[in-house]
Amino acid sequence: MPVKRVALLGATGSIGRQAIEVVERNPELELCALASGSADLKVLAAKHGVASTQVGGDLVQLLDAAEPDVVLNAVVGFAGAGATLWALERGVTLALANKESLVAAGELALAARERGGGLLLPVDSEHSALLQCLEGRSASSVDSLVLTASGGPFRGRTRADLTDVGVDDALAHPTWSMGPKITVDSATLANKGLELIEAHFLFGVPYERIEVVVHPSSIVHSLVRFRDGAVLAHLGYPDMTVPISYALTYPERAATGVRQLDFASGLTLEFSAPDLETFPLLALARGAGELGGSYPCVFNAANEVAVSAFLDSRLSFLGIAEIVEETLATADGAAAQSLAELMEVDAAARIVAERALAERGVPVG
Ligand SMILES: NC(=O)c1ccc[n+]([C@@H]2O[C@H](COP(=O)([O-])OP(=O)(O)OC[C@H]3O[C@@H](n4cnc5c(N)ncnc54)[C@H](OP(=O)(O)O)[C@@H]3O)[C@@H](O)[C@H]2O)c1
Repeated sequence: MPVKRVALLGATGSIGRQAIEVVERNPELELCALASGSADLKVLAAKHGVASTQVGGDLVQLLDAAEPDVVLNAVVGFAGAGATLWALERGVTLALANKESLVAAGELALAARERGGGLLLPVDSEHSALLQCLEGRSASSVDSLVLTASGGPFRGRTRADLTDVGVDDALAHPTWSMGPKITVDSATLANKGLELIEAHFLFGVPYERIEVVVHPSSIVHSLVRFRDGAVLAHLGYPDMTVPISYALTYPERAATGVRQLDFASGLTLEFSAPDLETFPLLALARGAGELGGSYPCVFNAANEVAVSAFLDSRLSFLGIAEIVEETLATADGAAAQSLAELMEVDAAARIVAERALAERGVPVG
């Protein structure tokens, strides 16, 4: 089997580090490019014999130079958008952890995939699960998609309980160990909102046929309902090794060595409806997705600004949703026709969100 050359963007992050372990375990995978935001890559590059590295700056330049077979985009935030479009446009397999880029670029990304004709393999565990449940089924046989959400550290709390929660509380995720931005997004349910939009673009299913259910143990990674009443689910202990490996070794499904699910010791699977009142970002994301155009990009940009302020302890937890709602209210939602236009929409939304922060006396970050 020919060796797959992998460009790993976001190599120093939570997904990036786990991806390196997957590459080390599979002789048919080799790293050809590494990128980070600010962390030094010299030791990592030397260990893996990687010549192309980039710290901050233009990911597209790095990809042009490295000519990878697979781009694993594990950058956090909109900063990954150019790399996502680069891979889709060229038909280079895209293993996508960076959900923000698909959420923001939406239709632009789909058009690029259409032109490029390559594979778009989600690394998000829920979407990897959905892909596996959907593979080989006709679109007409699918009734709806069901995304599972752990509910995060504040599941079961009321808004009143969340008035004074701090960064450490929000970062104490019950089932997944992840980077700080996505961990806060999991606590607000913005992450599930981003995933809802991501699922819409990945699988072409309308929003009214994508459901979100809270499933605290994160054993069921997502489910698909079919028209005959059958429901297929994807199960496993929460471990990103599996979806990373699935995307990088697709369609071989290489061995991962993860712990096998133990049914004999008793496995109870609980599900409940999400609390949209306490966690308004899920409904805000659904609304932005349904409106379409550049609303998802604005949702994402405002959320990034607000989460960053929360992580700096400049903004309260409940303030995150308020900033996003205020920013969305000022947007016109006009669809971006190019990456340059999308970057303008993203930048403008960030300015509005920063202004909303300033108006409530939040110090500049
Ligand atoms: N962690 C998970 O389990 C998980 C699960 C599903 C989906 N995801 C998604 O995967 C992505 C990464 O999440 P994470 O948890 O791995 O985040 P993380 O631990 O914060 O890591 C982010 C990575 O992106 C790099 N980065 C930041 N800005 C960059 C830029 N402008 N150019 C190049 N690299 C940049 C960081 O470099 P520095 O180290 O230099 O800052 C770091 O390597 C997110 O989109 C997240 O939603 C994560």
